[in-house]
Order: sequence, then structure tokens, then C-alpha cells
Amino acid sequence: MLNSVREKVEEFVVQNGIPVSELPNKITNNIDLATSGEEILNLLSETDKEIFRGWVISDNLKSDGLSNDFSILKKISILSKLIYEKIHEQSKSPDKRFKIILSGCGTSGRLAYLCSQTFSLFLKSIYPALDYNVCDYIIAGGDYALVNSVESVEDKPKVGAQLLKNILDEHPNTECVYLGITCGFSAPFVAGQIDFCLNKENNRNILACGIIGFNPVEMTRKTSPINENNENFYDLMKKLENMERQDPNKYFIFNPLIGPEPITGSSRMKSGTTTKILIDLIFTKALVYLDKRENSNELEMLDFYEKILNVLYAENTKKNLGNIIDNSCEALRNLKHGGSINYLSDSERLGLLCCVDASECLPTYGAGKNDIKGFVSAKNAKSLTQKWQGFIKNCPTVWSQNIIDHLENFNSDKCVFILIESDDEFQSDQEIIDKENLEKILLEKTQCKIYKINLSSKNIEHTNRIKVLEMNELSIIYREASKMYSSYFSNCLQEFTLKLILNAISTGAHVLYGKTYENIMIDVKVSNIKLYWRACGILKKFCSELNKEQCEDYLLASIYSGEKLTNEKNDIEKHIEVATGKEFIVPKALIMALTGCNYSNATLLLDESRNSVRNCIFKLKNKIQNK
Ligand code: F6P
Repeated sequence: MLNSVREKVEEFVVQNGIPVSELPNKITNNIDLATSGEEILNLLSETDKEIFRGWVISDNLKSDGLSNDFSILKKISILSKLIYEKIHEQSKSPDKRFKIILSGCGTSGRLAYLCSQTFSLFLKSIYPALDYNVCDYIIAGGDYALVNSVESVEDKPKVGAQLLKNILDEHPNTECVYLGITCGFSAPFVAGQIDFCLNKENNRNILACGIIGFNPVEMTRKTSPINENNENFYDLMKKLENMERQDPNKYFIFNPLIGPEPITGSSRMKSGTTTKILIDLIFTKALVYLDKRENSNELEMLDFYEKILNVLYAENTKKNLGNIIDNSCEALRNLKHGGSINYLSDSERLGLLCCVDASECLPTYGAGKNDIKGFVSAKNAKSLTQKWQGFIKNCPTVWSQNIIDHLENFNSDKCVFILIESDDEFQSDQEIIDKENLEKILLEKTQCKIYKINLSSKNIEHTNRIKVLEMNELSIIYREASKMYSSYFSNCLQEFTLKLILNAISTGAHVLYGKTYENIMIDVKVSNIKLYWRACGILKKFCSELNKEQCEDYLLASIYSGEKLTNEKNDIEKHIEVATGKEFIVPKALIMALTGCNYSNATLLLDESRNSVRNCIFKLKNKIQNK
């Protein structure tokens, strides 16, 4: 007999056999038929609401959204109290060192970085004597992966465990809270770290071990062994679940069931957003305890996020943001004629979100490195922190104001610049002047379309060339959040707002450009094992008459450009290596599978559709159906 809503939803998912993180969302089933940014926003508004209000599975079954999931809210409370106690203890006796380690791959690792930086900086501002970052991060692929797509390290559990061990070894007398993030409960990199934490020998300084993801434990990945005992991620999660039952003050599984992503499998969206909310709440609550205010209420905090959703999806904003999406799509349609989408932020903190959003389009939509980019504005690299100086030197997708030297690349009226306006308290006067200069130069020297997104408390003037997305209510919400909780919480809300806006622009532009069929990412990059099998699943979905093996064969034919396979079929790592960096792998495989044509003809057919993958597949499917 199933009692709770949670049990019923879990049973539904398990019987269905597909993890929530890989299910198509019914709301966005026809997202590829949308003809405008505004229509896309209507759909995203509905799927984002599921985070708070629950996932409607059928007329009589609906999951608890965050706002009703009291078991998750209780865990937030327990963990935040533990963090508070340790920070408090540390502030009284500095030799009692304490650390929180957040870790993940792709977006999950980037959010680990963002959340750890915002929290550590804030703690330093209230405890100037703190001489280290209380909150640390690990991202698969290292710092380069913060602003670039590096997918393959996700498959390496030993690397994950070693990186965690390195941090613990560097801080020998430090008690640690470890929190792994893997939205699909699927990343071996994170599983390796969980395995490390659950091993008694390593456990000495680990005060608490938790995981964030959005599937029932039963749906954890069962392939890919993680350790010498051949245990897989699922085995480890079952252990963790057991330990959580025995010691709920030390082990934590945060897995609210918020429903499928608007673009199937795109965990950067709802799952990323919910990851951020969970971490924000844990840290904000710890700060409230530190402030000796006992009466913080998670539901009241969640309310702030929902208020922001209401502002973002209000009619007026939808119209203006929809227009930015339309023009961003136009930029993608004109990639060959100087089109590109460029985000430019006036702060490093928010600039990171810009770079993150841009870099995610590579694996998700098979975007090219120059199609969509993030920038942080600074007169010269020296005025940036060391980390950003490193990014600018080493990462092709992150530039500072030296874009001025490359303005000829942006001189088409098809190119879109989206400037993020904020009052970041960590921003220097010089940075503000630099940004204003950059705007002037952009206006004088380029023909680009320029939009401003105003997250600041000032009103900004519209001019002929600069359109402003004004959302006056936001600054009221931020101010209220700061008054009731802390400026830390207000920063979290600002990051949340920007994440949703950027996700909407990049998703909307790529969907309108034809990079999805229904809500399936049919131009996904085949750059790790999860994505390899996702690609096979996409072929199976659209060619139901083929069996799994035939689908894999078509994928391989596309990866090897129609050449005969010379290495072992089960050498998936090799296939991924060959596929990484190649364009249109899945679309071409799909065309071959649908029509039976060879690789060269698939390439021709795709070219004829001006690379609009969706239009090409749509036409082919129609043709086949009408035969
Ligand atoms: O492999 C690509 C990807 O799906 C990214 O899009 C995502 O951010 C990353 O993997 C991590 O996924 P997860 O959080 O489920 O481990």
C-alpha cells in the first residue's frame, strides 16, 4: 500500500523505466512549433512553475514541488544548522577549520563554483579575519570547464575521487561537508567522490556527505562500475540511502521530483535552477542562524523566487524578452553573415553566468564556439581577478574588453549584444567606467543590435540603438530580500533572475532556429557516455521500427563519416573521442536512419535545409508518412 505522494510518484517513474531527467515534458511537446520568443516564454513559464508547485503527471497524480516537499525542506534545515555551528565555532577559535566542498560536472560544476564563490566572499565580508575560502568547489575538467564545454571527464570516477582527496589532503585538520551535484544521478565523476566519502578510511574529517539530483534513487545510473568492487552508482546510492536513514544528521539525499526538463535532458535548466535554489537556501539559512535570527522560514524564502518568476513571465516582460529571443534566433540564422549572440556583463560574478550559459549551448545544441559567447567587461585584463585573467588567456569563449581589437567580428547588424546591468557590490568604480566606455565604442564602431537587461535599482534610458528590458519590481524584491535576510540572499536572487533570462534566450533562440524536434535536442554533441546513449535513444525514438543495435550502427556511421568501422564496436570511449569536435553527428545519423541514404547524401539533405535540423527531419518524416 503506497501512502505518500512521493511514493506514488516514484512508483510511476520506476514503472515507466525512464529517469525523470531523461523524460520529455508534456508541456513543451510542441515547443518546436513555436513561432516567436513570446510563445517559448509561455511554455518555459509553465515548466519553471513545476519547480515550486509540482509536476502534474496525470489528473490524480502530481509530485510535491519544492514548496510542499517538507522532507527536503527539513533536510535543508538540518544541514544549514550544521554549517552554521561550524562557521560559528570557527569564528570563535580560528584553528578549528571548516570547509564545504561542492562538486559536479558541466553546469552542476559551474553552479558549484558560483555558489561557493558568492558564499565564501560574503563570509569574508562579515569575518575579515577569515584567510581562506570556507566553501570550495570541484568541477570535472578543472577551471577551463567553468566557461567551456568539457564533457568527457564526467565518465571518470577515479579522477573525481582523487580531486576530492587532494582538497582533503591540503587541509588536513579541517572538518568538511561534501555536497555532490549530479542532476540525473548519473555522473561517475561524482559517484567516485560519494564512494570515497562512504569509505570508512577516508571518513575521518567528513562531517557530512550529501548529494543533489532530481530522480528517485531507484533510477540512479546502473551502468559503468565505479570502484574495484564493481559497484555502480546505484549500489552506492542505495548505501547512502541506508546511511541517511540511520544518521540523518550526516547523510543527505536532496532529490525533489520537479519533473522533466523543458528540453528533454537539458539539466542546465530546471535542475540547474533548483540546484541553485537548494544551495542558496542552505547557505542563507546558515547565515540567518549566524545572525542570531532563529525565525527564518524556507517557505518565505521560496516565495521570493516565485515572485521573480512572476515578474519575468509578466505580459510586458514576456513581450520584450520575447523580442530579444527573436533577434537572437535571427543572429543564429545569419551565422554565416556575421551573426552571433554575445552576452556582456559588468561584473565577474554575473559574467560567469553569461559564459556558463553560452558554453552549455555547445553540448546541448551542437553550437559552434563563436555562435554564442559570454564576456566580462574590463578595460584591461589586469583589473580582473587572477582566475579571470587565466580565462581570458586560455579560453576562446571568454574575452574582456579586448573585444575592441576584434570589432570587425561584430560588425554585422545581425550580431546581437546583450548587456547585463547590475549594481554588484563587489564591482569597482573602474569597472563601471570601463563598461560605459565599451558601450560607447560598441555604439560608435559597430552595427550590432544592443539590448540591456536591467537588474539594477536605477532606471535606464532607452535610446534608438539600445533597447532596455526594464523590470522595476525586481529591485524592490531584491531590497526586501536583503532587508529580511542578507545581501547574500539578494545576490542569490539576482543570479537566479539572470540564469532564467539567459537560459530563456539561448534555449528560445536555438529552438526557433530549429535545433530541436518536438522538445528533443536532436543536435546533441556526442561527447561522453551519457550523451552517446542519449543519442542512440533519440534515434530509437524517431525510428521506432529499428532496434537498439541498428540505431547504434547509424550513429557510428555518422561518427565515422560513412567509413567502415575499424576499431571495436564496444570501444565507446574511442567513438566519443572521434565524435567530439565533429558537427551534426546526430542529425546526419537520423537522416540516414529515416531514409536509408548514405552519409554524403545525408550531408546534402541537411545543407539544403540551411542546417535547420528540425526542418530537415520534419520534411523527411512527412515524406515518409505520406508514402
Ligand atoms: O554531459 C553533459 C551534461 O548533461 C551537461 O549538460 C550537464 O550540465 C552535465 O552533463 C552534468 O549532468 P549531471 O548534473 O546530471 O551530472
